[in-house]
Amino acid sequence: MPLPNREEKKDFVQEKFSSVTARYDFLNSLLSLGIDRLWRYSTVKALSGVTGPVLDVCAGTLPLSREIFRQTKEPVVALDFCYDMLRFGAQRLSALERRSIHPLCADGESLPLASSSFGGFSVAFGIRNLADLPRGLSEMFRVLRPGGKGAILEFSRPTLPVFKDLYRFYLHRVLPRIGGAISGDQEAYVYLAESIQGFFSQHEVCNMLKESGFVKVGYMPMTLGIVTLYTCTKPQVTDE
Ligand SMILES: C[S@@+](CC[C@H](N)C(=O)[O-])C[C@H]1O[C@@H](n2cnc3c(N)ncnc32)[C@H](O)[C@@H]1O
Repeated sequence: MPLPNREEKKDFVQEKFSSVTARYDFLNSLLSLGIDRLWRYSTVKALSGVTGPVLDVCAGTLPLSREIFRQTKEPVVALDFCYDMLRFGAQRLSALERRSIHPLCADGESLPLASSSFGGFSVAFGIRNLADLPRGLSEMFRVLRPGGKGAILEFSRPTLPVFKDLYRFYLHRVLPRIGGAISGDQEAYVYLAESIQGFFSQHEVCNMLKESGFVKVGYMPMTLGIVTLYTCTKPQVTDE
């Protein structure tokens, strides 16, 4: 399946996440054997010390937003352009979470938010889905306060001999079948595999973060490189 081009990508991604919404969390846990919780835990740990509101971009059904609130107790703006994903997640919030997690249906590449208004931002499994990643990153930079931190979790490609071939087999042969059978939309899981395969390298992502103005840019592969956690900071003094 060819990946959608930049113009088609937004509509395609929105439609695919709408179609898998009800099974999204269950499939995440199943396909990652439950390790996705640990990945999100580590992502929020990277934001430790952040004060003030945190923006969770591509928040989906809010699993990372909830973890941010659990660890930091700071208010969270949970932004996603797929209304069905946000609504599904919002319906599952506890009364306490509802007071501090604020879903916002909007485009991550054009944030309807004031500049320098967040102490931190996060994105889990979202940057790969943006149609224009540099634009999304510069928007995240804009809304972050000077000194604020960002943590981005995204799939990457293992490089370990043998394991990388096994993983590729799993990604292209096993995952679309299980994902398709359970969600009813095999194309969504073929897209998942293809988009991981076609995504930027860790160095390219770090360069884009630096080009957007971030400093202290770093990355840490986790689980043999299946995912990578990127961290970055907005400098105290910017040219904005
Ligand atoms: C794989 S889900 C990740 C959800 C959640 N962060 C998690 O940890 O499971 C990716 C989400 O990114 C959203 N998304 C993709 N492009 C977006 C954009 N331009 N603006 C806002 N949300 C976007 C999709 O609607 C989808 O809900």
